[in-house]
This record gives sequence, C-alpha cells and structure tokens, in this order.
Amino acid sequence: MRRPIIAGNWKMNNTRTDAKALITALVPLVADAEPEVVVCVPFTAVETVAAAAKGTNIAVGAQNVAWADKGAFTGEISAAMLKDVGAEYVIIGHSERRQYFGETDATVNLRAVQAIKNGLKPIICVGETLDEREDGETERVVSSQVRGAFEGIAEGMLANVVIAYEPVWAIGTGKTATAEQAQETVAYIRKVFASLYGAALAQKTRVQYGGSMNPANAAELMSKPDVDGGLIGGASLRAEEFAKVVNYKGAAI
Ligand code: 13P
Repeated sequence: MRRPIIAGNWKMNNTRTDAKALITALVPLVADAEPEVVVCVPFTAVETVAAAAKGTNIAVGAQNVAWADKGAFTGEISAAMLKDVGAEYVIIGHSERRQYFGETDATVNLRAVQAIKNGLKPIICVGETLDEREDGETERVVSSQVRGAFEGIAEGMLANVVIAYEPVWAIGTGKTATAEQAQETVAYIRKVFASLYGAALAQKTRVQYGGSMNPANAAELMSKPDVDGGLIGGASLRAEEFAKVVNYKGAAI
C-alpha cells in the first residue's frame, strides 16, 4: 500500500550543464519505473532539471529550505523560491547539514513546518553515528530526532511527508547497513511515528533507507517490509547506476 520512492541526492555536484546531461540520460532509463522517482539537486540546478524533467515521471527536489518566508536570511532559499523554479520535494535535516552546518532537531522542525505549509514535500532525514550505534544508542537517537522533527506538527499536515533513515556511518563509506539493520531501525522509526500520530498514518507514511545504497544491494534492502525506498547519494550521480537502483525489481532498462 506504500508506493516505493527512490530519490537521488546529488549533494554539491553538477553544474547546470552537467545536471542537464544527467537528467536527460536518466529520463528514458526510468520511464517505466514502478517506484516514484525523485532527484534532489543543488539549488542552482533545480530550474534546469525541472525543465528537462517536465512531463516525465521524475519529480525534482532541493536539499534544504529556509524556515522563514523571506527577509534578512543571507544565504538561505525560501520555499516560494523553490516552488518558483519547479521543486516538489525538499530534503531536510540531512546528516551533512547537521554535522557541518549546525542543523539541529529544532531547525529541522522549523524547516519542515515551512516546507509543508508551502506545499513542498519534505524528506526528513534521521540517523545515528557509528559511536552511537556501537554504544547501543541507535533507538534513542532516532527516536529523539523523529520527535524533534515533528514537534508541534499536526497530523493533518503530514500527508506528503517522507522520512529517510540514514545511518551516518553508512553514508559515502561503501559500508551499507545490512538489510536486517535497515529493516530493524526503519520499523522502529515507524513505531515512534505511530506513537505520535497513530498506526493508520504510520502505515501510510513512507520511510526510506539511505547510505551506500547501490544496484548491488537495492533489491535486498527493498525486500524488507518496512523499507519503502532509498535516498541515494553517490550512485545517483550516474544515470545507469541510479536507474538500476530505481528498477531494482529487474525491469528492463
Ligand atoms: P551515499 O549513497 O553516497 O552513501 O549517500 C547517501 C546519502 O547521504 C543520501 O542522502
């Protein structure tokens, strides 16, 4: 009942020229995909990629959004600006933003509210570090990140929310969580979400796995009952590779 959603996170890669080449190569490779397909691209490439993806089954997203409508927030990009250039999704609270740019559960919450109020679909990222996992803190950490992200957000606002479980130790390391580890923590995240909003909404809400997901491990990760998709970094930067993840069920590509 939950349609799988495979999203690429291009991170800080691709000029507009590179972005156009990548999206143009990707379009035919995923045209028959069963999952929902999203690419979250740098701000500067959103308009280019959205134009190239118009009329296709690929939705475009950004990688952050300001929590205010407008004003004196140097360096920030508002939800209205993102919608203006064709963004439908936005990643919020990626671990790289938490680690390098001071993002906290409180700012994730503010950004999520702003995205939802403006009709952007947020992909809210949570995940533990290696130390936290080794200390047995995974559930405590993801639980407090989920509770923090959704603080004060009413149930009626959550129809289009996606959660991404991205263990920090698996991001860009080539060290994927096992399918069992992914399932266990994704299921736990759904349980926390259910404790906040009830089982019915939790059963409808998609939770992705992210962290070194690639064509070789996608099918196994996606076979797990609670894993509803992937948030793909490195493997989303090459059209053929990303298409293989999207078509993890083995559709002809
Ligand atoms: P990698 O797929 O490169 O590990 O990145 C995962 C990620 O951070 C997606 O948001």
